[in-house]
Amino acid sequence: MKRHLMLAVGMVVLGGLLLGMAPSAMAGHELVGASKCKSCHKKIGNPYQIWLDSEHSKAFETLATPEAQKIATDKGLGDPQKEEACLKCHVTRAFLGNPAVNEKGKYADTEGVGCEACHGAGSDYKKKSIMKDHDAAVAGGMTREKSEAFCTKCHNEESPTFKAFDFEKQWAEIDHPIVAKEAK
Ligand code: HEC
Ligand code: HEC
Ligand code: HEC
Ligand code: HEC
Repeated sequence: MKRHLMLAVGMVVLGGLLLGMAPSAMAGHELVGASKCKSCHKKIGNPYQIWLDSEHSKAFETLATPEAQKIATDKGLGDPQKEEACLKCHVTRAFLGNPAVNEKGKYADTEGVGCEACHGAGSDYKKKSIMKDHDAAVAGGMTREKSEAFCTKCHNEESPTFKAFDFEKQWAEIDHPIVAKEAK
C-alpha cells in the first residue's frame, strides 16, 4: 500500500521533471474562488464587499460589452471572454497562468479579478489556523504585495484602454483593511 503510494508519487515527480516543470509549479496551489474567502472575510473588516463594489469584480462582465467586442474585432480577435489575450488581465485564473481549480471550491472565471489574483490560489492557506499565522499562510501560497510594480502587471500600456495609473490614488479606491479604519 505504502510502496504503491511512494511509487505513484515518484512517477508524478518524474513526470513533472520530464515535462520540465519547476517544483513550485508542481506544488500546485488550487483556486477556491472569492466566495470561499467571503465566508470568513465578510466579518473581519469587509474586504469581500469592498471587492464586490470595485471594478475588479466586474472585469469579466466588461469583456461582454460592445466596447470590448470592438477592441477585440479591431485586433482580429474573437469573443473577448474567450481570448487569452484579454483574459490574462481580466480573470484570476488566466492571470495566474491557469492553475487548477479546487474541486470543493467555488471558483468561476465570472469573478473577474478576484481575491486570489492578488493573494495567490487559496486551497493551501484558506484554513483558519493557517490564515491566522502569517508565515504559514505565506508557505501555503498567500501573497499580499502592496506595490506599484505588482498592480502594473495589469495596469500598463498593454491594456487597450490604458490611460494612466496612479498607485496612491487607485490603491485608496480598493484598500480593504481587516479592521475598518473608522473603527480604529
Ligand atoms: C476559515 C476562515 C477564512 C477563510 C475561508 C479565509 N480567510 Fe483570510 N483570514 C482569516 C483570518 C482569521 C485571518 C487573520 C485575521 C487577523 O489577523 O485578524 C485572515 C487573514 C487574511 C489575510 C492577511 C494575512 C496575513 O498574514 O497577512 C489575507 C490576505 C487573507 N486572509 C486573504 C484571504 C483570501 C484571499 C481568502 C480566500 C482564498 C481567505 N483569506 C480565506 C480567515 C479566513
Ligand atoms: C490581474 C490584473 C490586475 C491587477 C493585478 C490589478 N488590477 Fe486593477 N483592474 C484590472 C482590470 C481588468 C480593471 C478594469 C475592470 C473593469 O472595468 O471591468 C481594473 C480596475 C481597477 C480600478 C478601477 C478603475 C480604474 O482604473 O481606476 C482600480 C482603482 C484598480 N484597478 C486598482 C488596482 C490596484 C491598486 C492594484 C494593485 C494593488 C490593481 N488594481 C491590480 C486588473 C488588475
Ligand atoms: C495588460 C492587461 C490587460 C489586457 C491584456 C487587457 N486589458 Fe482590458 N483593462 C485592463 C485594465 C487595467 C483596465 C482598467 C482601465 C485601464 O487601465 O485601461 C481595463 C479595462 C478594460 C475595459 C473597460 C474600459 C473602461 O473605460 O471602463 C474594456 C472594455 C477592456 N479592458 C477590454 C479589453 C479587451 C477586449 C481586451 C483584449 C483584447 C483587454 N481589455 C485586454 C487591463 C488589460
Ligand atoms: C487588486 C489586488 C487585490 C485584490 C483583488 C484583493 N486584495 Fe486583499 N490585499 C491586497 C494587498 C496589496 C494587500 C496588502 C495591504 C497592506 O499591506 O496594507 C491586501 C490585504 C488584504 C488583507 C489584510 C488586510 C490587513 O489589514 O492586514 C485581507 C484580509 C485581504 N486583503 C483580503 C482580501 C479578500 C478576501 C479579497 C477578495 C474579496 C481581496 N483581499 C482582494 C490586494 C488585493
